Amino acid sequence: MSVVDEVKERLDIVEVIGRHIHLQKSGRYLKGLCPFHTEKTPSFYVFPDNQRWHCFGCNKGGDLFNFVMEFEGLDFRTALEELARRAGVELKPRTPEQVEAESEAERLRLLLEAAAAYYHTLLLTAPQAAHARAYLEKRGFTRDTIETFQLGYSLNEWDAARTYLFGKGFSVEDQIKAGMLVEKEGGGTFDRFRNRLMIPICDRRGRVIAFGGRVLNPDDQPKYMNSPQTVLFDKSTVLFGYHLAAQAIQKADAAIIVEGYMDVMIPHQAGYKNVVAPMGTALTEAHLQQLQRLTRRFILALDPDAAGIHGTLQGLETARQTLDREWEAIFDPRGLVGVEGRLKADIRVITMPEGLDPDELILQDPTRWEQLVATSQPVVRFYFNQLLKQENPQEPKGKARIVDAMLPLLSDIADSVEREAYVQDIAMRLGLDARSLLDRLRVRERAQAVRRQAAVKTAGRTPLSGDLEAYALTILIRYPEVLALADAQLAEAQLEPIHDDDFSGVYRLIWSAWLELGGHPELELGDILPPDLLALVHTWIATPLPDTPLEQWKRDMVRTILRLRERRLRDISKRTQSLVAEAQQVEGDMKAERYLATLQNLSEALRRVQQALSR
Ligand code: CTP
Ligand code: MN
Repeated sequence: MSVVDEVKERLDIVEVIGRHIHLQKSGRYLKGLCPFHTEKTPSFYVFPDNQRWHCFGCNKGGDLFNFVMEFEGLDFRTALEELARRAGVELKPRTPEQVEAESEAERLRLLLEAAAAYYHTLLLTAPQAAHARAYLEKRGFTRDTIETFQLGYSLNEWDAARTYLFGKGFSVEDQIKAGMLVEKEGGGTFDRFRNRLMIPICDRRGRVIAFGGRVLNPDDQPKYMNSPQTVLFDKSTVLFGYHLAAQAIQKADAAIIVEGYMDVMIPHQAGYKNVVAPMGTALTEAHLQQLQRLTRRFILALDPDAAGIHGTLQGLETARQTLDREWEAIFDPRGLVGVEGRLKADIRVITMPEGLDPDELILQDPTRWEQLVATSQPVVRFYFNQLLKQENPQEPKGKARIVDAMLPLLSDIADSVEREAYVQDIAMRLGLDARSLLDRLRVRERAQAVRRQAAVKTAGRTPLSGDLEAYALTILIRYPEVLALADAQLAEAQLEPIHDDDFSGVYRLIWSAWLELGGHPELELGDILPPDLLALVHTWIATPLPDTPLEQWKRDMVRTILRLRERRLRDISKRTQSLVAEAQQVEGDMKAERYLATLQNLSEALRRVQQALSR
């Protein structure tokens, strides 16, 4: 048994959580007020049966360890140590390098926390900060917002912060590592931030990991001085405001992405809290991955100037490359030729009025912000309008370039009716025949699908995620003995054998046809399957597969099935969660309990699948 399991065995989650939160029994569960978000009616549940917890308000959940980590703000290792101590379980010592790295990170965190508190106090009380306070007032900041974001002020001195932090016991070396000091060429150091408005940058748990410092004296350069990369701060992954926005993003089911610090803080102050900003960089994959856990709707609110538009287009491209896709079968008259990925996200663009940043606009008139959000343009429309400005839509060559640039975005649209509506709209505005444009789109999609299929063949490995079902079926059809082997391995992990629910749409048809054949040697696939699907199966049969041992095919098969299940369970859980939320609105609605139980089972199943996948 692992130490983790041993600790879990010895401690009772109800007892551990019950020390911090008042829990009341409610059926087979215990309920209490969630410690991770503010609420008046309890949606925080503890499940003694499987020793897990879940909050249906903020959607956090997990086991004993997650709770302690989240509640006490500990990393896993520290939580493990803490709980192991309570449970009387002995731990293997960490390597000296681990110990050093962890204790360094912890020291730097404490240092930055102390620095933030120091700057904050200066801003609120120091006579030297009078101009900083006046500046914030001029920019419309309330005292509340200054506190929420723990804004601060750095004195106009070369060593004030260093001296203060040193006095608090933080070495100069650590201050350099935390990005607070700049090293001079000939030796020695000076404070990085001087006479600036200090904006703490936090990680997802709200711990300070860096600072942004805005000039107060317009002669100083640059306008914003940020902490350098450190062990705690990676500029390309952090979203400013995330920890304060996450819940609102989930609630609004939309994330608004703006450009700067001010554009996050002022909307927040005005009650629009689902707003985050990258750190003055382009939108990266890491940013979108984080947001994707909260919502599938993204609204980009960026500058209308050339650089802003360029940034927006770049952000859209990153989004297209990064965000999850669902895969759709593409047919031609001879049958299915492959799959095309449709974006499982709704991306919109807000174009700010010339010369106005979101913060300025909101301060002038908050309702205009709401209007802008409500009338944000779908990405296809935004992109099209951009192209109309770049190309000459009167000229045949210009038209062709616009159409070619639009095709990938049109293919991204998941809903076929919506897709066609856009095609018609674009055709009309370019004075083209909608039918021929639609044909062009189909030709491109087919070509893409074929290319994708070909890439899968040459790579000879697990294909793109959407193609998982086709891949699983290809293996089965080519190596039927894999079914029993894979089922056995699934059983070992206490998971169900491969079954109907693992497949969807046409793939499920093919799967059941194939199963049927097993019991009827006199039949052929062609007797059961319609011609299209038979043609598809034939392409699979014709696909050259790498010459790997059966054992490898079995492993591939199991992984593929597990990934399919993971995806499906995620989807169902999401839907069940909204059912729970709905039912909980109604006092005394018994459905909530039932959904909860379902959700419990689902997350248990998901956990088992993920565990199996990680092995
Ligand atoms: N930025 C930066 N370093 C700079 C300039 C900008 O890191 N030298 C980042 C900051 O995160 C800033 C964002 O890019 O918030 C947008 O820059 P800009 O539009 O110039 O500033 P604003 O956010 O509009 O700030 P303000 O309203 O205070 O002028
Ligand atoms: Mn601005």
